[in-house]
Amino acid sequence: MKNQEKESPLGLDVGTSRICLARRGDGPTEYETQLNAFVSVPKSPITERVLGKEKIPHTVRDSDILVHGNEAGSFAGMLGIETRRTMTRGMLNPEEPDSVAVLKDMIQAATRRYGEQSERRVCFTVPAAPLGANDRLTYHEATVKQILTESGFHATPVNEGLAAVYAELEASNYSGIGISCGAGLCNVCLAYLAVPIVSFSVPQAGDYIDSSAAAVTGERANRVRILKEESFHFNGFFSDQLHQALGVYHDSMIESLVESMALALSGAGKAVRSNRPVPIVLTGGSVMPAGFRDRFENILRRRAFPLPVSEVLLAPDPLHSAAKGALAAALTGS
Ligand SMILES: Nc1ncnc2c1ncn2[C@@H]1O[C@H](COP(=O)(O)OP(=O)(O)OP(=O)(O)O)[C@@H](O)[C@H]1O
Ligand SMILES: [Mg+2]
Repeated sequence: MKNQEKESPLGLDVGTSRICLARRGDGPTEYETQLNAFVSVPKSPITERVLGKEKIPHTVRDSDILVHGNEAGSFAGMLGIETRRTMTRGMLNPEEPDSVAVLKDMIQAATRRYGEQSERRVCFTVPAAPLGANDRLTYHEATVKQILTESGFHATPVNEGLAAVYAELEASNYSGIGISCGAGLCNVCLAYLAVPIVSFSVPQAGDYIDSSAAAVTGERANRVRILKEESFHFNGFFSDQLHQALGVYHDSMIESLVESMALALSGAGKAVRSNRPVPIVLTGGSVMPAGFRDRFENILRRRAFPLPVSEVLLAPDPLHSAAKGALAAALTGS
């Protein structure tokens, strides 16, 4: 690692389903991603040794070992169990007693190599509150900041929708609507010349699609997620019930998103006006299915929308947009 690389800032996307670190390397921006999930496996010296040898992130406790990151998904599949999650709906999971401890270990595992440079800058993503609510945002943001500060970083939060704008709307001077459709939330931010004007989140996102489709088909949510990521797309004909259900709940997510955007942008006391049409950019894992952009635009254009929209863009690399935007914020000194 060159000196310049060692000192350069980092972008960290702390997502409900994945933690993604972005940094400037020699060439293009580099991304490292881990599943934000864990499983508990029985403790034994041999398991401990093998996990260490294979460099699989884990936490050893008195009675068990918590395996976290990408390998947690494989263990859960083999053991026939659901993974445990440190976060839900974009924030620390209040129903998971080990959430803070495991998230801390995961963030430290992702950033350890870069933390020795004291006060290195890192920007981390935080969700916006749902429309009209403040939620547990303060606790979540303060906890992640503390984890990073204790690891020697100078940490600053960046709103996830704004990160989407920073990542993908340079061509319009960071004016437009950034949308990040993730696992726990869809985050939206309208920015004008890089200034956030309205930000909010909507709770219908990837996890909602998985759990709703699981409930009506009797499948496990984790299995639904895997099938969705492998084979779901819009506008195809599916004879099986699972794909039919996935189509219904993707539509439902887009409808809720568009409805909330219309409400927020024309909403009580904060009607936003613009004569110049603004672009919308779609980012996040849940915009990945083929045909998503067209479906979103159809649903959007079907209704009266408070702002003129110039175009609906799909990010070229939707899974990395939030981390890329957080890195952009860190590089400009946020
Ligand atoms: N190819 C795909 N097709 C459909 N959905 C996908 C695909 N790839 C990933 N996803 C879904 O995208 C979601 C993860 O997206 P992302 O990594 O942007 O979320 P996150 O940042 O972890 O969550 P959040 O921003 O809500 O906190 C999951 O629900 C996942 O199932
Ligand atoms: Mg996200």
